Amino acid sequence: MRIVTGDEIPDLISQAADQVEQLVRANPQAVIGIATGSSPEPLYVELTRRAQAGLDLSQLRITCLDEYIGLPAEHVQSYRHYITEQILTPWNIDPAHAVLPEGDAADPDAAAAAFEEGIGGLGGIDLQILGIGPNGHIAFNEPGSPFDSRTRVVDLTADTREANSRFFDSIDEVPRQALTQGIGTILESRSAIMLAFGEAKAEAVAAMIDGPVDENVPASALQRHPALEVFLDAAAASRLGNGGLRPS
Ligand code: F6R
Repeated sequence: MRIVTGDEIPDLISQAADQVEQLVRANPQAVIGIATGSSPEPLYVELTRRAQAGLDLSQLRITCLDEYIGLPAEHVQSYRHYITEQILTPWNIDPAHAVLPEGDAADPDAAAAAFEEGIGGLGGIDLQILGIGPNGHIAFNEPGSPFDSRTRVVDLTADTREANSRFFDSIDEVPRQALTQGIGTILESRSAIMLAFGEAKAEAVAAMIDGPVDENVPASALQRHPALEVFLDAAAASRLGNGGLRPS
């Protein structure tokens, strides 16, 4: 695990974007796993800026971490909508090159199995982008998720529904279930970037990096990831041992 800390989020984002750019230049058809949520948004904006300046992202293969169950694909809070608006359209990617779970499928278990198979069909994920929940979740693998879990249907915790209610008109509208890549699935990504900013993430970040590898902290599984880079602002790094000052 390589940890990059800094005071300026734009500088961290620029470094993370450099990693993506390096991969794209080496392999224009690389498979990128998109995290949704607010943490990676500035990275997507920066990559869109680079695309407008001439970086060709259009041949990338796109997949994602998770999707709410029960929201129609066109719902503004569906992750399919997020990925279409923030990734596929601005990066000029053919939607046929995106493997996304069907959150509104009649049979969500079958949709989860199809999603896992779809990732396999892409040949696996070259670079997975990740955020972390304040409770230490990665994707929608909530505390207690087995480290060998695969893509499946999960119940969202009250904490996560509360944290995500900021995107909805009321907490009642936040779905109760989701489809998510499993922790075992995420650990198979060939490389990964995690972005975490702000004090609200500090405790989860410290548990992920300094704590024991423990299923009660899903992100602690990432201590076993072969090629993970973690980008943290000072607030998110503030509870790390050594005050967040670590060699990168
Ligand atoms: C989103 C996802 C979640 C988020 C996490 C942090 O696809 O998998 O695990 O990464 O909830 O969300 P933000 O970045 O909104 O704080």
